[in-house]
Amino acid sequence: MSTLIELAAQRLEKLQQAGAVVPEVGGRKKEGKTSEAPLNSTVSTLTSRYVEIDFDALEKSGIVNPSAARSNIADQYRVIKRPLISNATGKGTTKIQNGNLIMITSALPGEGKSFTALNLAMSMATELDYTVMLVDADVGRPSIMNLLGLPASAGLLDLVMDESQDVSSVLLRTNIDKLTILPSGTAHPRATELLASDAMVRLLSGMAKRYADRIIIFDSPPLLAATESRVLASSVGQIVMVVCAQRTLQSDVLKALDMIEACPVKLMLLNQARSHSKSSYGYGYGYGYDYEKLKA
Ligand SMILES: Nc1ncnc2c1ncn2[C@@H]1O[C@H](COP(=O)(O)OP(=O)(O)O)[C@@H](O)[C@H]1O
Ligand SMILES: [Mg+2]
Repeated sequence: MSTLIELAAQRLEKLQQAGAVVPEVGGRKKEGKTSEAPLNSTVSTLTSRYVEIDFDALEKSGIVNPSAARSNIADQYRVIKRPLISNATGKGTTKIQNGNLIMITSALPGEGKSFTALNLAMSMATELDYTVMLVDADVGRPSIMNLLGLPASAGLLDLVMDESQDVSSVLLRTNIDKLTILPSGTAHPRATELLASDAMVRLLSGMAKRYADRIIIFDSPPLLAATESRVLASSVGQIVMVVCAQRTLQSDVLKALDMIEACPVKLMLLNQARSHSKSSYGYGYGYGYDYEKLKA
């Protein structure tokens, strides 16, 4: 029986043979300024509160951070972020609606969604690529603030509860200029229902318009454990589905993929996968554009 990793690896090879742009493994040659369109914005950060991210805490959790720019993990995320940035900025072959809204999800809890969301946000923001907003939308099991070494704070749920509240009143500016954080917010007994509410739909469409010039990364609930994540899935332009390669059943992965069918771009990230090549890279990156092959 073929494993998922093998299937993804085969698919990657086929794509490469077909001339698809597949991320190169290794560091970026170009540092600093990029020739890509800037996605900077100062709007809405004007009144936001400022917090200091604890870089030591990030280092301990193995997360990309400014003091470890040369690390293995930083290299891996340079590769992973490239197609996402290209889609977000309209540099891909087709223009993706809401391509700058990127949902990080998985079939089940514990597959590495928060780890991936935070690493991607840090990688994009610290390498001065783009202004990034990281949203903790896994309201049932929020963890972003904890990973950043910050206390819980008002955020997403407060905005959904009270639509008169402005995003900038709960958005946090950080000691990384280009990174803002939208925490999950005040715990609420009906948190999951709020995430699936019409107010959430309105909030997302408002954010897409207002922050069209930045990349918004959503750390999201697991698809099979939480049906409310469908609202988010139908509002974003790109979804990264994290798959814990050695653990998650292929049937669960397929069920989860069915739930995000409508999203224009679906990328699959095999987390904690052991590569069968000589390199020691811990990630494989399967492209979701033709993920139907997985079902074959
Ligand atoms: N690639 C990885 N390398 C090292 N640790 C990882 C990796 N992916 C996930 N983890 C760790 O596994 C645990 C579960 O990951 P997490 O991102 O919290 O999962 P989820 O958000 O999907 O529930 C965390 O302790 C996280 O730090
Ligand atoms: Mg999580």
